[in-house]
Amino acid sequence: MGFPEDFSWGSATASYQIEGAYQDGGRSMSIWDTFSHTPGKVFQGHTGDVACDHYHRYAEDIKIMKDLGIQSYRFSLAWPRIIPGGTGAREMHGIDFYSRLIDALLDAGIQPTATLYHWDLPQVLQDKGGWANRDIVGWISDYATVAAEEFGDRVANWVTINEPWCVTWLGYFFGVHAPGVKDLDQAIASSHHTALAHAEITRALRAVHPEIRSGISLNMTSYRVDDESNAELLKLRDYQDANLNRWYLDAQIKGEYPANLVEFYGDKLAKVVKPGDMEKLVIDSEFLGINYYSDSFIGTPTKEQVEKNAGSFLFPINSDGTPPAPHTDMGWPITPQGLEDLLVRIHKDWPEIEDIAITENGAAYDDGPDENGQVNDERRVDYLVNHLDSVSRAIDKGVPVKAYYYWSLLDNFEWAEGYVKRFGIVYVNFETLQRIPKLSANVYSKVIATNGSVLESVRKS
Ligand code: FCB
Repeated sequence: MGFPEDFSWGSATASYQIEGAYQDGGRSMSIWDTFSHTPGKVFQGHTGDVACDHYHRYAEDIKIMKDLGIQSYRFSLAWPRIIPGGTGAREMHGIDFYSRLIDALLDAGIQPTATLYHWDLPQVLQDKGGWANRDIVGWISDYATVAAEEFGDRVANWVTINEPWCVTWLGYFFGVHAPGVKDLDQAIASSHHTALAHAEITRALRAVHPEIRSGISLNMTSYRVDDESNAELLKLRDYQDANLNRWYLDAQIKGEYPANLVEFYGDKLAKVVKPGDMEKLVIDSEFLGINYYSDSFIGTPTKEQVEKNAGSFLFPINSDGTPPAPHTDMGWPITPQGLEDLLVRIHKDWPEIEDIAITENGAAYDDGPDENGQVNDERRVDYLVNHLDSVSRAIDKGVPVKAYYYWSLLDNFEWAEGYVKRFGIVYVNFETLQRIPKLSANVYSKVIATNGSVLESVRKS
């Protein structure tokens, strides 16, 4: 029972959140450079210009992972470093950087898992419409080909797109993430293009290296409804569930989009789906990546929420706008049971999926060094232990979870929230860039060393 012997224990990061060096090695501007440099978009004007300076300090970060016994490392490739023009010529400085990173990981005995797209779209491509422009399916497939040619001999596992829901809805509808667009037509186009891109990227990777294993990373949740007898709330739940949980899985497995959304989107969707697209969406990915942080609560929206969303079904998660206690610094409720429930549900609704990786799971807490220089992030330890328990219960119920990546290795640039939301098991002093492994890093290290069996005693202590 519990974690299988070949279970893979990892940690995750993303290029824009940690690399810094935003003008080094011929890197072009990404949409996150533009967005973060635009006043009012990111908390206190924080940017990824320096971030954790991982671009220059990757060797130190790999050493930390090696010391902790981390077995796999999920990082992302920055498209603007590899193909600064978005399409066309390769930038060898950028390619060399990732080559060195990958070689150093392999030397340290750490398996690299590369995410092709974790949100830093070259700005030049956003200038042509970004994810709302269908041409992006070709642009990103070509980038995937280049990445596979350069790194596919050494990187066995690939994530195609990280959280396409966030790319689409936070980026093109709510406008709270780059590129900051607020337009339903563009969001619906992006919903389709991201789904299609996942399938085409997979084909592009396989064309270069047929043995490559790849999958998409989806942010998913378990919905809880305030009042199960309220038909309106149940309907709202079904829309939310279709939009967040079902869209990409139904596309890749069944070649269809959820019927309620197809009806709701109407012509806006029909005009972007070209003949043959629905067949092209179907792809037998080697694994599914799940990013899980918390459950979502559906309650009767307040008058203010209804007005703010102009009648849209996309209400914020909580009925009164405040997070139900307890919650992390993000305001996200702490709901470990929801992870087991979600995994069991995925296994039931899409039994075709035979390999699930938790590609992100973690908590933001602002603990810093005490007078002895130690970071005692006990709340993160609780979060980690309780969520791993939840994963192990799902495994006991037959859900094929094969890997877990804690988000994140390092405190980093948390998108619109800047540097105040700290997710790392390693503390980063953003003045000096010094790294300090937190208590949670040491606990995770023991979990890895014992393949999870230490969880029992950690829980009791
Ligand atoms: C996810 C993102 C990741 C990180 C976590 C906290 O949505 O994929 O980059 O910011 O949230």
